[in-house]
Amino acid sequence: MALDLLSRMYVRANREKYAIGQFNVSNLEFTQAAVQAAAECNAPIILAASSSAIKYAGIEQLVAIVKSLANSVSAPIALHLDHGADINQARECIEHGFTSVMIDASHAPLEENIRITKEVVALARRSGVTVEAELGRLGGIEDEVEVDAKDAHLTDVNEAERFVRETRCDALAVAVGTSHGAYKFKGKPVIAFDRIAEIKKRVGIPLVLHGASSVEPAAVEMINKYGGKIDDAHGLDDESYKRAISAGVCKVNIDTDLRLVWAATLRKLLAENPGEFDPRKLLGPAREAVRDEIKHKIKLLGSVAKA
Ligand code: G3H
Ligand code: 13P
Ligand code: ZN
Repeated sequence: MALDLLSRMYVRANREKYAIGQFNVSNLEFTQAAVQAAAECNAPIILAASSSAIKYAGIEQLVAIVKSLANSVSAPIALHLDHGADINQARECIEHGFTSVMIDASHAPLEENIRITKEVVALARRSGVTVEAELGRLGGIEDEVEVDAKDAHLTDVNEAERFVRETRCDALAVAVGTSHGAYKFKGKPVIAFDRIAEIKKRVGIPLVLHGASSVEPAAVEMINKYGGKIDDAHGLDDESYKRAISAGVCKVNIDTDLRLVWAATLRKLLAENPGEFDPRKLLGPAREAVRDEIKHKIKLLGSVAKA
């Protein structure tokens, strides 16, 4: 069906306590993988494009790929701008048919973050597009203690209450100990679940967990076995998703895990088939691995059959 608005998806996820997966895409194969996973699980999903994904694929081309694939299935699929930089980028995405945008002014002082987010909310409301904003700085809790406290600090509960009241954003990305990429934790995940619950109690709206990949150990192992080098990479465990969702998270962002299973599959294929150079024989299996990873995540997030 046509691209769906996130507002309806959020209401149900918030009420029934499951999370919708955000899967980042920047090419045909990842988008096919995600849409097929959604169809097979009868699950709502969010396809997300970051600034660099848009630059890589071209906005017209990426939207065309997403729309045509979304039209081919009945599962609800939203298209979301991930970590939008400013109002101009939000406007461009809305004009091209994105159904949700994130404005990430979390680097700015609170007043400035509120001002920028309010502008984007006013713009998005005219077209029914939902707005996700971010408050706090992503980064490991351990890092906050040991490294530079300026670069990693958790979302403040009182600030979150004021931020949501004043901006009227639809969803809030919170900093609770996760971080982007493959190096999230030194070992076991350390996530401030209590803080998620406290923020949720105050703001009520769907909370978003960024930096939520598991850093799939099997994929990391396979990458290293076939010539890659990824040391000491750790992400979330299955229990972390359950606890985050029961504390109030309704949207979980996954990018790194898709990249890892993709790279692992390609490395293995190339190593074991030195004579192979047909892109379809290499990208096809990698696409299947991404699809299976997305299905695995959809199951963990509890969004199977919630279409
Ligand atoms: O939040 C970051 C996402 O994983 C997007 O990463 O800017 O490399 O596309 P990217
Ligand atoms: P990961 O790097 O953990 O996949 O997080 C992705 C993300 O938060 C995109 O916004
Ligand atoms: Zn993110």
